[in-house]
Amino acid sequence: MLAAVVTGVDAANPVNALAVQDVPAHEPTPGWVAVNVKAAAFNYHDVWTLRGMGTHRASLPAILGTDAAGTTDDGRDVILHAVVGPGQLLSEGCPGTLAERAVVPEANLVPKPPNLSFVEAACLPTAYLTAYNMLFGKGALLPGEHVLIQGAGGGVATAAILLAAAGGLEITVTSRSEGRRKRALDFGAHHAVATGEKLPTRVDAVVETVGAATWRHSLRSVRAGGRIIVAGGTSGFDPSAELPMLFLRDVDVRGVFMGDVTQLQRLAQMTAIGKLRPLIDATYPLTAVREAAQRMVDGTAFGKLVVLPNGE
Ligand SMILES: NC(=O)c1ccc[n+]([C@@H]2O[C@H](COP(=O)([O-])OP(=O)(O)OC[C@H]3O[C@@H](n4cnc5c(N)ncnc54)[C@H](OP(=O)(O)O)[C@@H]3O)[C@@H](O)[C@H]2O)c1
Repeated sequence: MLAAVVTGVDAANPVNALAVQDVPAHEPTPGWVAVNVKAAAFNYHDVWTLRGMGTHRASLPAILGTDAAGTTDDGRDVILHAVVGPGQLLSEGCPGTLAERAVVPEANLVPKPPNLSFVEAACLPTAYLTAYNMLFGKGALLPGEHVLIQGAGGGVATAAILLAAAGGLEITVTSRSEGRRKRALDFGAHHAVATGEKLPTRVDAVVETVGAATWRHSLRSVRAGGRIIVAGGTSGFDPSAELPMLFLRDVDVRGVFMGDVTQLQRLAQMTAIGKLRPLIDATYPLTAVREAAQRMVDGTAFGKLVVLPNGE
């Protein structure tokens, strides 16, 4: 079968560590099941893997990808919960999803919401689940609260905007690009400011996935007693912590790793009963997966990039 294969690691040019290859399909072991992958979303996590961060080097070459929607051999349309162990995702020590077939634990299968396409459904397991947990799980945000979402165009950030709008939150976004700020306003944000610009009022909570470039702004934008929910650091992981900004103002920092399978079921149900549909930037055949990877590296996507391993 055709698959997107991590052939090594390359911190400077991560796309160089990615190749499309014909590989033997993995047979499911007891408790695992094979899924014919109709769509597999690309995530920044895949770029980290190609760069060598958290990469299981001993198991290379290995199939990349954490997210998929597809069909089981017995005809069920499913999405795959990407978490396979504590801190461990599909593609980490087991085959990933950017392939014609994937194998996952049976317990990780969640029915695909019938009103979403496979392309849309493939976006739920990482970006949308993480945003859901940041807002409504660990973040415990309530309707009417004000949330700041850093880096408007990112996969998690666009998910957070759509979910926050559906949940009745007031939304401020930041982006480096005026065009991306305008687009965020078009699909649900109430206010949009340039990255780092002072806000007129402090917010109840911050959704932080950009990291070093926005951490200082997040600390200054949250109200006393508010919370900063952190799930990533695309621009770097080691900003100054500025501890007094936390303890003098009683700010609560909460880390989020994905979400559990129950949250993914609830998120799927939310899309099944409502109007929320994941925002897709572009789709690619599996043979063009390196183009999708390069766009993630360049930061030019607005919404999700989705790969179609079976060419639909
Ligand atoms: N903890 C978890 O479970 C979990 C789950 C999913 C993702 N993540 C992490 O969350 C992060 C985002 O993932 P993603 O897939 O959403 O990535 P993405 O689609 O590439 O989004 C990154 C966003 O960050 C902003 N950005 C990047 N560099 C910046 C800089 N130098 N200054 C200001 N803004 C910058 C960009 O916003 P603008 O271009 O609009 O300014 C971009 O849209 C990654 O680090 C990923 O590993 C973690």
